[in-house]
Amino acid sequence: MKHSKGNVRAGIALITGASGGLGLEFAKMFAEEGHDLILVARSGDKLNHVCAELRSSFGVEATSYVVDLSAPEQLEQFVQDIAGIRIDYLVNNAGFGDTGYFYLRPWKLQLEMINLNILALSRITHHCAAGMVERGFGRILNIASTGAFQPSPFFNVYAATKAYVLSFTEALQVELRGTGVTATVSCPGPTETGFHARAGSYRSRIMNMGLMSGERVAKKAYRAMMKGQSLVLHGLRNALMAFSIRLTPRSIAPKAAHYFMKYNDDAQ
Ligand SMILES: NC(=O)c1ccc[n+]([C@@H]2O[C@H](COP(=O)([O-])OP(=O)(O)OC[C@H]3O[C@@H](n4cnc5c(N)ncnc54)[C@H](OP(=O)(O)O)[C@@H]3O)[C@@H](O)[C@H]2O)c1
Repeated sequence: MKHSKGNVRAGIALITGASGGLGLEFAKMFAEEGHDLILVARSGDKLNHVCAELRSSFGVEATSYVVDLSAPEQLEQFVQDIAGIRIDYLVNNAGFGDTGYFYLRPWKLQLEMINLNILALSRITHHCAAGMVERGFGRILNIASTGAFQPSPFFNVYAATKAYVLSFTEALQVELRGTGVTATVSCPGPTETGFHARAGSYRSRIMNMGLMSGERVAKKAYRAMMKGQSLVLHGLRNALMAFSIRLTPRSIAPKAAHYFMKYNDDAQ
C-alpha cells in the first residue's frame, strides 16, 4: 500500500468544486500528502490548469471531470463514469448560495441550488459510501455552513440546503460506526472565496464581521476529516453563534439571521 507524507493511507480523493475557492485548497492538501485526485467543476480550463500544476508540483495523478453537477442527467452520467474507480476520500464541496427574498429570486436558480447542494452531494455520497464500507476504509467530508444552524431569511433556500447537509452528515456518521468509514461535516462562516460574488452576499451585513481565509478553513476541515471527527466549526465567533442558537427561542433565531443577511443599505 502506498503511504502519504503524513503516514495516512494514500489513496484516491474525489473533490467537487475544485476549480477555485475551498475546493482548490483541499486539492492542494491532498496532493501535498501524496493522494491521487479526481477534480470536478464546470470550468474545464481552470480544472486542467489545477491538475497540471498539482501533477508537476507533487507527482500525483490528477484527473479533471467537467460536469455541471446541478444538472441531474450530467450527475447520473458522472456517477456511472466513476463506477469502476476506488474512491478513498470524498469531499463534497461544490455548492453555491443566493441572497434576496425567495419569492423574488428566479426559480431556476433555486432549483439548481437544491440540485447541487443536496441532490448531487447525496447521490455522490450514496455511490462512494457503499464502496468504502465494502473495503472497510473511507473518509467523507461534506461542506455545510453556519447557515445550517438556523432558518435564514434572505438566504432562505441556501441555508435550508445546508441544514440538510448538516443533518444528513451527522446521521450518516452514526450509521457508519464500526465500518472504518467516517463522515465529517464542516460549517464555515463567511470565507474569502468566489462564493460571495456568485451569491450576491457582498452587500450583506454579515460581511461587516470580516472573512476567514479559505486556506485556514480548508486546513481545519481537512484535519477533522482525516481524524474522522463528526462536526467542525471554524473560529470562536462562528462556534459561539452556532451554539447560542440552541438557547435562542425558535421565533427569534430567524429574525436575527435576517438582520445579518440583509444588505447594509436595505431598509426592510
Ligand atoms: N465562502 C463562504 O463564505 C462559504 C461559507 C460557508 C460555506 N461555504 C460552502 O463552501 C463550499 C465551497 O464554496 P467556495 O466558498 O469555495 O465557493 P467558490 O469559490 O464559488 O467555489 C465553488 C466551487 O464549486 C464549483 N461549482 C459551482 N457550481 C457547480 C456546478 N453546478 N457543478 C460543478 N461544480 C460547481 C465551482 O466551479 P465552477 O464554477 O468551475 O463550476 C467552484 O470550484 C460551498 O459548498 C459553499 O456553500 C462557503
